[in-house]
Amino acid sequence: MANKIKSVFVCNSCGYENPKWYGRCPQCGEWDTFEERIINDEPASISKLKSNSGKRGLAQQIKDIQSDGEHRYLTGLSEFDRVLGGGIVKGSLVLLSGDPGIGKSTILLQVCQHLGENLKILYVSGEESAHQIKLRADRLGVDSPNVFIMSETDVEIICEHIKSDKPDLVIIDSIQTVMLSELSSSCGSLTQVRESTNFIMRTAKDFNIPVIIVGHVNKDGNIAGPKVLEHIVDAVLYIEGERNYNYRILRAVKNRYGSTNEIGVFEMLDNGLREVLNPSMMMLEGRPKNSSGSCVACTMEGSRPILAEVQGLVTPTSFGNPRRMTNGFDFNRMNMILAVLEKRGGYFFANMDVYLNVVGGLKLLEPAADLSVALALVSSLKDTVVREDVLAFGEIGLAGEIRSVSHCEQRIREATRLGFTRVVIPKDNLKSVSKELQKEIEVIGVKYISQAFDAIIN
Ligand code: TYD
Ligand code: MG
Repeated sequence: MANKIKSVFVCNSCGYENPKWYGRCPQCGEWDTFEERIINDEPASISKLKSNSGKRGLAQQIKDIQSDGEHRYLTGLSEFDRVLGGGIVKGSLVLLSGDPGIGKSTILLQVCQHLGENLKILYVSGEESAHQIKLRADRLGVDSPNVFIMSETDVEIICEHIKSDKPDLVIIDSIQTVMLSELSSSCGSLTQVRESTNFIMRTAKDFNIPVIIVGHVNKDGNIAGPKVLEHIVDAVLYIEGERNYNYRILRAVKNRYGSTNEIGVFEMLDNGLREVLNPSMMMLEGRPKNSSGSCVACTMEGSRPILAEVQGLVTPTSFGNPRRMTNGFDFNRMNMILAVLEKRGGYFFANMDVYLNVVGGLKLLEPAADLSVALALVSSLKDTVVREDVLAFGEIGLAGEIRSVSHCEQRIREATRLGFTRVVIPKDNLKSVSKELQKEIEVIGVKYISQAFDAIIN
């Protein structure tokens, strides 16, 4: 029987695969995005294995496998290094992603300056001309003689250059603008993005050169050509930030060489991104004094506690249905807290508009922020000022109880460091707080929401 060629149809937009062609993708709903792909009977990984060693199917004891340790390059931006798990690992492939204009090119050019002192760096840009990059580099003060700029979009030419020149670090800005000319699909399509990345990766791994790839985020917030890239690369970093705020948060969503919980905080200035080593202080800047409806929360971002001000505003409504609005906190979670406050605490919000805002654009995703949200709202409802040297955290249960949270001591230490004199915490957490720490700051354990309110006003 003749060998039948197997093929599969792949959606260019989301990567959905199906043996049949569709006009409209059942997963993402985009029209005319299916492309046929021939399936190679022998998966790439196997052919690679064959070529790498003649010993297929041989298992080794883990203690016998030689490891020459991880060699890491420090970038000079400690926040960037922290997110990577302690610098760029030699031979790794890192994807840096984020909205347009968020600062991806800026941060990479800054990294070039420090690394360029000892290493040879190739910065490939398919988006900007060498002249444009030079203008930006002047602004950022990047003038290292070891930084080479290449304005090129053909992946094969780029890889030829990498082979002949052997830089110590390669930056590709961005993967959506480079292409393999032998493929028929257009620049930025799923096939192009995946195959280009594979091509670059093979070249880089052969010479053990680390590569940072910039990937754009599409309108749904996914990296265009999304999941396929996340599987290929060793680390995926996102830069986030609100358009109206200057600060940017760098977050790892995948990291084969470190934890994914860490974040790095930066501030966008005229001369590039500056590290923010004390984010809590920045978040609390300009806090109003003697004003009701404000309470400080503590949220854990990776191994680091960050303080943020939660503001609530409760006003009589002039509508039939009172308005509810949140910014930086989950809308449904606020409604739940309001319901608990009504039912269990006797605080009535029925004829009130309720607005909640987390200052600085930070998003409080942890349930540990519940207590400060509740206190800010009650403080505004009662028009009672929360003492400005008090911080509160704890999860609120539906029975009105305050439930314990993780990393209690770390949160209290951060409060102490920033000059707070009293913390209100869940009662169940109290026993885990050391006596020494309790000498430095007054720690009050509360079981119910009403006790918490008493503890923050006098
Ligand atoms: P950029 O790094 O080009 O974003 P991306 O590569 O993620 O698309 O950042 C561009 C934005 O940053 C632009 O809106 C201007 C601003 N910016 C500054 O505020 N200060 C600076 O020093 C630089 C270089 C850019
Ligand atoms: Mg850019």
